Amino acid sequence: MSIVVTGAAGFIGYHVAMALLDRGEEVIGVDVVNSYYDVALKEARLARLTPRRGFRFARLDLADREAFPALAAANPEVTTLIHLAAQAGVRYSMVDPHAYVTSNVMGHLVVLEAARRMKGLRHLVYASSSSVYGGSESLPFGERDRADTPLSLYAATKRADELFAHAYAHLFGLPQTGLRFFTVYGPWGRPDMAYYSFAEAILSGRPITVYDGGKVRRDFTFIEDAVQAVLALAALPPAGPPRVVNIGNHRSEPVSALIALLEAELGRRAVIVDTPRPAADVAETCADVERLRGLVGFSPETPLDRGIARFAAWFREWHMAGGGSGDARRDGGVDAPRRGA
Ligand SMILES: NC(=O)c1ccc[n+]([C@@H]2O[C@H](COP(=O)([O-])OP(=O)(O)OC[C@H]3O[C@@H](n4cnc5c(N)ncnc54)[C@H](O)[C@@H]3O)[C@@H](O)[C@H]2O)c1
Repeated sequence: MSIVVTGAAGFIGYHVAMALLDRGEEVIGVDVVNSYYDVALKEARLARLTPRRGFRFARLDLADREAFPALAAANPEVTTLIHLAAQAGVRYSMVDPHAYVTSNVMGHLVVLEAARRMKGLRHLVYASSSSVYGGSESLPFGERDRADTPLSLYAATKRADELFAHAYAHLFGLPQTGLRFFTVYGPWGRPDMAYYSFAEAILSGRPITVYDGGKVRRDFTFIEDAVQAVLALAALPPAGPPRVVNIGNHRSEPVSALIALLEAELGRRAVIVDTPRPAADVAETCADVERLRGLVGFSPETPLDRGIARFAAWFREWHMAGGGSGDARRDGGVDAPRRGA
């Protein structure tokens, strides 16, 4: 028995793989290790996974039609596929839209095509996003709400993945769960996301661009809570049609609160430049977590101040050791609310 984790060099995939290894599972990590943000950070995550007993790694592009199916065919013992690799980030989808279709549509299709042929596979768990709720003003966002008005191409690709799930469950009986993550943050996080890029700017005295006076609100989900939810859901393949599940904190916080916490943790004031919110970014997110609770018996609870303290402790250490975000293509939006979105 083993578990494939795609996006294992990425933020959430790294933590999911680590948690599985802590439980003594056999993990096959997959990632192309692209340069959307600092490759050194991805390599540093991999360097912590690689020595762990039970971990193997395949560096491949999921959009390559041959590579992942070959890996899947060579590992018939795989029972669970946790597919977290993607081109993430809302605003970057206006810069390089093709990257989103390549990784999130073609890459996802390659995973589905391989998955339907994996004889021992019991469950395909894949990352969707809270961005599929688009500009919905009915808060909190519930899984039964309509999700057909995406505000970004990123959101549209994630919604496409959810629709693919229906077709593949109907045609091939593939059990699937889509994870609608709400702004996941924490140690070893993503440099393109607001909490991270704000922290870098605050420490170096650079100004941060904040939308709508910091009134934009997000449901911030601490990484350890998200990982516990992913693992619990992975153990529960749906018997019937595929499902989508919100993974959020059920608490919406203004970005101004995030900035105040970072200032307190880092001991420096932020220099704020206020601008209007861009069109791809939603004003507020908040997750209805009843479905998650009903399935696994818990939901994320770490308050933002505790989570940001954990992030800041890691961040200081990483940056003192010389880590930087390098050539991060900075972004914003629902799962990457940089500069206040
Ligand atoms: N972090 C959040 O707040 C958040 C919110 C909503 C949804 N999500 C989704 O959760 C998943 C994980 O997000 P993350 O924050 O860890 O992002 P991440 O960018 O840190 O990790 C994604 C990983 O996927 C890899 N990848 C991209 N395209 C690939 C391809 N074609 N083949 C192989 N590997 C490829 C990247 O190299 C990267 O390491 C993504 O699907 C993302 O869209 C994240």
